[in-house]
Amino acid sequence: MQEVPSKRSPRSPLRILKKKVLQMAELLTTNDKRTCLCAELSAANVGETVCVMGWAQKQRDLGALIFIDLRDRSGIVQLAFDDATDRAVFDKAFTVRAEFVLCAHGVVRRRGEGAVNKNIPTGEIEIAVSELKILSASQTPPFEIVENSPVKPELRLQHRYLDLRRPDMAYNIMARSKITKLARDYYAENGFVDIETPCLIAPTPEGARDYLVPSRVHHGKFYALPQSPQLYKQLLMVSGFDRYFQIARCFRDEDLRADRQPEFTQIDTEMSFVNEDDVMRMHEGFLKFMFREFYGIDLGGDFIRMPYAEAMERFGSDKPDIRFGFELKNLSDILAGTEFKVFAGAIEGGGSVRAIKIDGGASMSRKEIDALVEFVKTYKAKGLAWLKWAENGDISSSYAKFLTDAENEAIKARMEAAPGDLILIVADKNSVVFDALGALRCHCAKKMGLCNPKEFKFLWVTEFPLLEYSEEDGRFYAKHHPFTMPMEEDLQYIDTDPGRVRAKAYDIVLNGTELGGGSIRIHSGEIQSKMFEVLGFTPEDAQEKFGFLLEAFKYGVPPHGGLAFGLDRLVALSIGLEDIRDVIAFPKVQNASELMTKCPSPADAKALEELAIAVVAEEE
Ligand code: AMO
Ligand code: AMP
Repeated sequence: MQEVPSKRSPRSPLRILKKKVLQMAELLTTNDKRTCLCAELSAANVGETVCVMGWAQKQRDLGALIFIDLRDRSGIVQLAFDDATDRAVFDKAFTVRAEFVLCAHGVVRRRGEGAVNKNIPTGEIEIAVSELKILSASQTPPFEIVENSPVKPELRLQHRYLDLRRPDMAYNIMARSKITKLARDYYAENGFVDIETPCLIAPTPEGARDYLVPSRVHHGKFYALPQSPQLYKQLLMVSGFDRYFQIARCFRDEDLRADRQPEFTQIDTEMSFVNEDDVMRMHEGFLKFMFREFYGIDLGGDFIRMPYAEAMERFGSDKPDIRFGFELKNLSDILAGTEFKVFAGAIEGGGSVRAIKIDGGASMSRKEIDALVEFVKTYKAKGLAWLKWAENGDISSSYAKFLTDAENEAIKARMEAAPGDLILIVADKNSVVFDALGALRCHCAKKMGLCNPKEFKFLWVTEFPLLEYSEEDGRFYAKHHPFTMPMEEDLQYIDTDPGRVRAKAYDIVLNGTELGGGSIRIHSGEIQSKMFEVLGFTPEDAQEKFGFLLEAFKYGVPPHGGLAFGLDRLVALSIGLEDIRDVIAFPKVQNASELMTKCPSPADAKALEELAIAVVAEEE
């Protein structure tokens, strides 16, 4: 825009007073009724008298002209002040600075030739302002309120209310609201009853660590915050509600990661008189509905269903990212008689030798391959054997010289390798091989730009193991939770070989992230008691901790099952974001504190006394 010579003196005393003027808020009167959001205006509104309110994104003073970009949650509209503007209004516009809150009345008009901004929806128009109020002044904010501005995460979270003014963040939060509404619509439409369950509940001995809440009335006793509404929703099935639904806040005292917060939200559901297929279909229906309604994306036909064992075998993960290949292949049979100790040792020890082939990976430098070796070590692999087959036919390898020609050829054939490829091998106990190669294939894909966040590859992982053995504790734990129904055909092994029993459990996975999980539940007191026994509870323990459930199971329980989506993950992934903090208005940081309000914080002495609690060690 050209500088226009001003008819008004640039030395106006106002310029000097600018900083002091109008720090006092003006009040809204009955005439100040907002007629629309800023970005709702377009060329269709030309000639209309409107009233908008919002924050000054920026003020441009061109002498005889002043422009203010006014922002609200919908976007931006340009306010214009010129020679035709009332003098007092013009002078007031002159004092406006970034983040002042304004109320503007005026007429929508087309922008002048050459002033059209094709990048924003309101770029063809502006408001010729006739009346302006400064509802609130603002100090200079600690960071500029624009999309993707490079700001330290700590600073953003300390001033989260400003961070949420940024258009991208505002979009995320509003998307979450709309997706939540779509969930309510879909499940209500399908006969689900929205029921609230308590947040002060009995501690759960299984699962993650509980957040505890001390009781003032019962000294020495504690409530727990729910890790999920699991038992309540099952009891609601016993009550006969048939289909339950809740947007439920859950609390888990676990170590945080990009996809984990100590408090998070589930779209939690339960259904009676159903099998796995019914439950999966119902929730797949929601995802299709949501993507269609919100993003206009057709997720296509039935989602793939893959048994857990296959997911591990092919992808080394129970939440496989299937946007790319690089599948695992077992080389153990080829290498059964090898003289190479690293491979032979793993196989003899009951483990395996497995490999992935990175198509086009031979373009990686030695330094890059060394970094891959270091990468797998973080997954407890002792090493990574590799073979690089250059486009020109040259082969370099860390392991080939230790193998016979026949073994080397058999590996290439098994991997269907060709010039240009990179073969990566891990030999170890199976859990390490799967972990390391499962992570490595994703790491390479990411590095090679094969993970398009806007490509949505859903799948169901089914037939999970019922139990998981902990070497450390020398006992079995429930893989999903202790209320999950074993598969009938595997029940025979529950005493003799519990690790072999598969569960009627399923996870919904999107692009390598577990988006939700659920199961068909045990609805017989007998099987439930058996399950508690396998988990190492004495009948007395089970009675003490879950007596209410076993009691309820005496009075007629419908077969039932359900699923919970992680709402934060669903919203984040569907937008194409990795960090769920970007879709939570006030999230916590890695050490579980909240930087804005600075919680957790010490309790005052009187409160502790009332709770009969003494703090024995305080954080520095
Ligand atoms: P589960 O423990 O698998 O199942 O949890 C269901 C989904 O909740 C999300 N989730 C989380 N999201 C953010 N931060 C966390 N710390 C976190 N933990 C879990 C995940 C996960 O898939 N009651 C059962 C469900 C059922 O069986 O119906 C349950 O809670 O997306
Ligand atoms: P070494 O005999 O220890 O020098 O190992 C020879 C090659 O085998 C090196 O490339 C190592 O990185 C690789 N290697 C070592 N341990 C493993 C393992 N557990 N799995 C796969 N490769 C390994």
